[in-house]
Amino acid sequence: MNQKQVFLGILLSITALNLQAKEVDPFAINNGFIPPKNEYNGTFFKFNYDYPKEYIKPINTPWLEVLNGKPLTKENSYEYVMALKQYVGKTMKTFVMEPQKWNESPQTGWYSMLWAGEEISKTGWEGREAIYGTYTGQIISKDVYKDSGLTVDIRNHAAIYYNQTAAYTLHKVWNKCDKSKDICIPSVTNNEAQFPEGSIIVKSAGVTATPEQWPVLEGAAKWKIYRKPFNLKGTIEDAKPKLTDIRVGIFDILIKDSVASPQTGWVFTTLVYDKDAKGNNAWDRMVPLGAMWGNDPDVNSAKNPIQELMETYINPKAPAWTKVTLGYGKRMSGPFDIAVKYNVEVDGKMVKSLRSSSCISCHGTSSFMLNDDKMITYFYPAKEFNKQPWEMYTPGSKEWNEWFKNRSGDEPQSKQEGVIALDYSTFLEAVLMNYAASNSSISDDILLKWKKYQYFRSHY
Ligand code: HEC
Repeated sequence: MNQKQVFLGILLSITALNLQAKEVDPFAINNGFIPPKNEYNGTFFKFNYDYPKEYIKPINTPWLEVLNGKPLTKENSYEYVMALKQYVGKTMKTFVMEPQKWNESPQTGWYSMLWAGEEISKTGWEGREAIYGTYTGQIISKDVYKDSGLTVDIRNHAAIYYNQTAAYTLHKVWNKCDKSKDICIPSVTNNEAQFPEGSIIVKSAGVTATPEQWPVLEGAAKWKIYRKPFNLKGTIEDAKPKLTDIRVGIFDILIKDSVASPQTGWVFTTLVYDKDAKGNNAWDRMVPLGAMWGNDPDVNSAKNPIQELMETYINPKAPAWTKVTLGYGKRMSGPFDIAVKYNVEVDGKMVKSLRSSSCISCHGTSSFMLNDDKMITYFYPAKEFNKQPWEMYTPGSKEWNEWFKNRSGDEPQSKQEGVIALDYSTFLEAVLMNYAASNSSISDDILLKWKKYQYFRSHY
C-alpha cells in the first residue's frame, strides 16, 4: 500500500466508528476491561479523586534551595532536576518499581483525573487501563530507534499523577461533580484551570518492547498492563485485550515554579532510563535528560541553527537513544513525545524528518472553548492536519514562531475571543474534550476533526 492508500484506509475506519453518544461514567475507575483471575491475580489501580479543597503548599522544597531565589539557568538545571527526583522519589520510587505495593498503598498525596476512565469513541480516547491506570500513547516505528537496536514497533503507555498542590486545581475544575447525582461538569471560565505554585504533575511511560527487542531497556522497571494489541495504524479494535509487559523508559516531572521560570511559570523536566548508569535499581538509573522552562523565542533556530538555547538544558551524559527525538532546534522533548515529524511538506517540498515541537511548545497550545470549531490550536505548527502529508509552516517564520513563544498559563495561543488557556495541561484539554463529546455540546463534525487530529499526532 502506498501512503495515500494507508491514509484513506485510516480515514474510513475512523469515520465508520459509531458516532452515537453513549452514557459515559465520568467517575469510572477504568475502561471496563478486567483480566480474568486465571490470567492475573494481582492488585489493581486505585482511583483517588478526593482532591484537596484548599491550597496545600509543599513543605520541604529542595529544588528552591538550588535556585537561591534566582531563575533557573543551564548551570544549575542538573542539580534542580535531581532535587525534584529526590523529592518525588520518596513515593514515586515505589510507583515505578513495585506496582503491587503501589496499588495496595493508600496513595495519599497523589491524585488522578476524572473523565478519563472509560473509552470514548467520539474522541478516540481509549480509557484508563485496569491494572496500572495507564493511558494508551504514541505508536513509534522501529526505524526511529534502529541505531540503538530496536527490532519491533513500539507503543508507549503512560500513567499520570498530580500532587496535593496541583490536585487543588482539579478540585476547582471539578467542584460541580457529584457522584451520587452522577453529575460532573467542569468549571474553567474563571481561571479555575490555573495551577498554583508548587504544583507537581508526573507522567511515567513504559514501552512494549522487551530488553531482547531493544537492548537499552536492560534492567528497566517492568509493569503489567491489560490492553488490546496494536499495529502501526493503531489499536486492533476487534482483538481481545491481553496481559502485556511494558518497560519504564521515562519519568517526567512538571513543576509550577515561577522563581525558576518567571515567564511560563513551569519547568518541564524528564528523567530517562540509562542501563549503564550507576545505581542499584531501575529508579536510581533514571537520569536527567534535561529541563526546559521556555521556548527560547529569541533564538530563531531555523535561521541560526548554531545559536545557543538558553531555556533548554540537555544533559550531555544522557544516553544517545533519548536524544534522537529532541525538538525544534534541539529544544527539549522526550523519547516518545513525537516532536520530530516524518515525511511532512514544507514550502511545497517533502521533508523526511522535521524537528517541529518541544515540551513547552506542544503543551502551550492547551486550551478549551465550547461550541466552536476553531477551538483547537494544533499541537504542531502545521497549516492543516486533515490531509496527508502534513503541510507545515515554514520553520522560523512568523506563523511557525507562534508555537515557540513564552506565554503565561492563562494566555491562550489562539487570538480568538473566548478561548480559555489551560495552563499547559494537555491532559486537562483531552478530558474536557471527553466531557464535551459525551454531552453533545459539540458538533460531530468538530469531534471527527479532533479525533483525526489525535490520531495523526500520536502516530509516528
Ligand atoms: C507533541 C506534543 C507533546 C510534546 C512534545 C510533549 N507532550 Fe507531554 N503531553 C502531550 C499530551 C497530548 C498529553 C496528554 C495525555 C495524552 O493524551 O497522552 C501530555 C501529557 C503530559 C503530562 C501529564 C500532564 C499534562 O499536563 O497533560 C506530562 C507531565 C507531560 N506530558 C510532560 C511532558 C514533558 C516533560 C515533555 C517534554 C520532554 C512533553 N510532555 C512533551 C503532548 C506532548
